[in-house]
Amino acid sequence: MSKANIVVLISGAGSNLQAIINAVEAGQIPGEIRAVISNRPDAKGLIKATVHGIECSVLNHKQFPDRESFDQALMTDIDHYQPDLLVLAGFMRILSDDFIDHYQNRMMNIHPSLLPHFRGLHTHQRVLEAGHAQHGCSVHFVTRELDGGPVVIQAVIDVQEDDTPETLAARVQQQEHIILPLAVQWYAEGRLRCENDCVILDGKPLTRPVIWKNQSLHYQ
Ligand code: GAR
Repeated sequence: MSKANIVVLISGAGSNLQAIINAVEAGQIPGEIRAVISNRPDAKGLIKATVHGIECSVLNHKQFPDRESFDQALMTDIDHYQPDLLVLAGFMRILSDDFIDHYQNRMMNIHPSLLPHFRGLHTHQRVLEAGHAQHGCSVHFVTRELDGGPVVIQAVIDVQEDDTPETLAARVQQQEHIILPLAVQWYAEGRLRCENDCVILDGKPLTRPVIWKNQSLHYQ
């Protein structure tokens, strides 16, 4: 792959999008963000994309009668850019099987928990309620199982006694902004791929995700 074509889907603030933009602009990711697409017209991330001269558009899911028709229209928009990689950076939609199959092995998501723990929403609150000592975030390839695809990398932080969902969210997000660009970088460099539900990094199948903790990477 010479320069990877990347399309990013967002629904909100776009802080993860910003982290990817920064990594592309710094030369860390050998790729180009061809487009940013939001399902919400008010997503702040659209402004971030525009400021950096990236093409962006809105496809409002509320204007479609059902999930399938929205996903079909979204696929048409995305495929216009012929992406090598589709990144879900805070894209808060459940995707249809057709959509997921179409981007099989070339779609990544950032999720705010240490998967397989705490799939779904409100992860920070649920971690506190469960009394877990550690929390974090995961980058995974997307499969039909919601938040269940093979995990590439996880960032781990310790939960503090006085943490609230908000303080945890803020610390986890700082980690998201490190591991998501890193996974995108590896993919764009041709070092990372997904095959038969297995993550392959530098030619070797990962038996466990790469861990980012205390400012260093741990391969197990
Ligand atoms: C991120 O924290 C991401 O982990 C989460 O949405 C946030 C988007 O923030 N994604 C999910 O919960 C996916 N299930 P951002 O718009 O500032 O990148």
